[in-house]
Amino acid sequence: MRAVLGIETSCDETAAAVVDETGRVLAEAVASQDREHAPYGGVVPEIAARVHLALLPEMVARVVTCSGLRFGELGGVAATTGPGLIGGLIIGSQVGKGISLATGLPFVAANHLEAHALTARLPGLVEGGVPFPYLLLLVSGGHCQLVMVEDVGRYVRLGGTVDDAAGEAFDKVAKLLGLGWPGGPALERLAASGDPRRYRFPQPMRGRPGCDFSFSGLKTAVAQEVARQGVALPQSAGADIAASFQHAVVETLANRATNAMVLFTERHKTGRLLVVAGGVAANCSVRGALQDAAAAQGFRLVVPPARLCTDNAVMVAWAGIERLRLGLTDSLGAAPRPRWPLEALADRSGANGSGGNVPPRG
Ligand code: KG4
Ligand code: ZN
Repeated sequence: MRAVLGIETSCDETAAAVVDETGRVLAEAVASQDREHAPYGGVVPEIAARVHLALLPEMVARVVTCSGLRFGELGGVAATTGPGLIGGLIIGSQVGKGISLATGLPFVAANHLEAHALTARLPGLVEGGVPFPYLLLLVSGGHCQLVMVEDVGRYVRLGGTVDDAAGEAFDKVAKLLGLGWPGGPALERLAASGDPRRYRFPQPMRGRPGCDFSFSGLKTAVAQEVARQGVALPQSAGADIAASFQHAVVETLANRATNAMVLFTERHKTGRLLVVAGGVAANCSVRGALQDAAAAQGFRLVVPPARLCTDNAVMVAWAGIERLRLGLTDSLGAAPRPRWPLEALADRSGANGSGGNVPPRG
């Protein structure tokens, strides 16, 4: 199969990439919108959509030119069609459909979570490859879930957050501590000089059966501590709070992942891989704790490089390749879906359940 164009616009990264079946990235571009959203301390959907609209058409043309291919020489176009912010989803999927309509290339309505889930399978990324089945921990600003990845389109969700995502908790606590946005990286830097045992923040769900997460109680506990200390929070106390908060998150993630590994082992005889995806995977303490937890269960931890863990279009192009190889494409009627859980892909019926799964045209 020929190279596939991937388009990602589901949140605040505008991205396009051309990837071939061997996993070679022929061209790639990502534009982060941090600067645009920073004054508001979070992603403003309307601003995100306007920036996608301003950047995407030129970016798509550029990556295709840089790939050395013409549109007609591609094997397909995959655009994130959900879940995410509706404005961005409409822009990215419409651009993808427009290209498909104009060129006759098959269209894949890519699920953003599936793209994260399949990234580790990019050939050459992990020695020995990542065959199905494997366990996935997705920890980003918008998502926090543990999933058994059994095949393309076959996912068993073991648990997820009942309130905030882990990255969201990092961002909110960073805001409380007066750090910039997005807060995860800044909080990790501050935590490095703090004492993780100074404050005993709750570790929600820890020790309970199952694989669900909850971070809003932890965030509230931090907010109460910050309020108790008042506006003149000394730098060292801020570092201790950051470190103690991070410790609570890390312990919770490791505990829930351990339960998931036990469940995975009960169900599957093969596949002892714990794959981590999403921006929070960039956190060294998170990675260290997961490494230990994985080793204790006889699992190998796989963390793709940071640029592939955070939102990007290489993962979308790759998800497109995985689907096209199976003959799975979507109709141009596939509607953008702000909510689109992985389990909904099980019937392989495409983005809106009506008209997906049509054989590729070219
Ligand atoms: O996957 P991602 O780029 O975007 C989505 O949310 O889909 O993840 C971004 C999230 C943000 O919440 C950010 O604060 C968090 O990942 N993050 C981190 C770190 N780097 C990014 N959280 C903790 N420690 C980090 N080093
Ligand atoms: Zn993401």
